[in-house]
Amino acid sequence: MTMTLENKRILLIVAGGIAAYKSLELIRLLTKAGGTVRVILTKAGAEFVTPLSLSSLSGDKVYSDIFNLTDEAEMGHIELSRDADLLVVAPATADLMAKMANGLCNDLASTTLLATDKPVLIAPAMNVRMWEHASTRRNVARLGEDGIHMVGPNKGDMACGEYGFGRMAEPDEILAAISALLGPGKLPLQGRTALVTSGPTREAIDPVRYLANRSSGKQGHAIAAALAHLGADVTLVSGPVEIADPVMVETVHVESASHMLDACTSILPVDIAICVAAVSDWRVDSEAAQKIKKDKSGEVPILNLIENPDILATLSKKSPNRPELVIGFAAETENMIDHAKAKLAKKQCDWIVANDVSVPDQAGSTGVMGGDKNQIHIVSASGVESWQEMNKQQVAADLAQRIADHFANFGKTE
Ligand SMILES: Cc1cc2nc3c(=O)[nH]c(=O)nc-3n(C[C@H](O)[C@H](O)[C@H](O)COP(=O)(O)O)c2cc1C
Repeated sequence: MTMTLENKRILLIVAGGIAAYKSLELIRLLTKAGGTVRVILTKAGAEFVTPLSLSSLSGDKVYSDIFNLTDEAEMGHIELSRDADLLVVAPATADLMAKMANGLCNDLASTTLLATDKPVLIAPAMNVRMWEHASTRRNVARLGEDGIHMVGPNKGDMACGEYGFGRMAEPDEILAAISALLGPGKLPLQGRTALVTSGPTREAIDPVRYLANRSSGKQGHAIAAALAHLGADVTLVSGPVEIADPVMVETVHVESASHMLDACTSILPVDIAICVAAVSDWRVDSEAAQKIKKDKSGEVPILNLIENPDILATLSKKSPNRPELVIGFAAETENMIDHAKAKLAKKQCDWIVANDVSVPDQAGSTGVMGGDKNQIHIVSASGVESWQEMNKQQVAADLAQRIADHFANFGKTE
């Protein structure tokens, strides 16, 4: 299934942040997906990207000045919003979010946002201190209460040299969020509930150290978004990751395997459970209350490991609350299909999705864990289906469709 925005009209508002250059790529992705894009550029936004670049990519005039829309062919702020299916603000600056949260309207962008009755999606982008400032926290909360959808921000290195939350979501993440909001009318998973786990777990050794793994959460988060895109009511239970919560998905943040299990069991019953998280198999038997110190003797501490609870096996166990379809991911580095078949039998789930995490991606270094591509094999009682390598968004979209087909063919009667 490809993301289609055929006949969808997006009004993109580009505000004055350093991430404005990414809006050019966003326009390219939106038009490639079949959408029509019209752009409003703030005065500050024009310091970062030129109207010429934006209009070349959108194929339309760029709107900037509220008092200068004189031409018959030009549209005022009301018409601009009336003509759109969705308003997207990317980047959404601290300034523009503050205006939105307080109903201020002193330029074309803010006036259009106040005058609209269409859904609005914002992709915040700012310095980590601006993002964490009490004013921005208040504004984000108020925008959420007002029904404004948000994608990102992500955690990472910033143009200003700092590190933390505030990086704008990547254009493909914004595209996925837009698709989730404007998706096709026929939603094959409407009425279904789904639980997805994603990311790594962290098992504390002492207050500052932990055991973890390289899982980025990209695949699990994309699957949660793809299921929501097909109409499912999705709860994502995520370990600590540096990517944004998907839109239209309720996300529960957890740290350890035990927290993850508690969160999952409290969400039951659901129709579909997909365990994508790379749950640590072990944890230390007792977490030290204080930081373990390096002493002068040169002796190293011995960590005794014990097994963590098995979330996939717990969810798969026969019980009145067992989800109708339980899917487990298997990250393997060798004998993938044999290991996947053994895992299917041992855990008693319905499908195992095996992915070879030893393979480097095309960039050559990051591999499947943390990388953007994946090649999966679906192992079930009816055999093995091997898919070609795709980006993780596409794997997610195709897997969600495969699940929808499963319910259409074998699903319970409503
Ligand atoms: C070099 C530079 C980079 C900036 N980057 C950001 C940013 O990433 N996010 C942000 O909220 N403001 C940023 N600002 C501040 C905004 O440009 C400023 O608040 C402006 O008034 C925003 O106007 P607008 O919201 O109408 O676009 C930056 C300013 C400068 C000079």
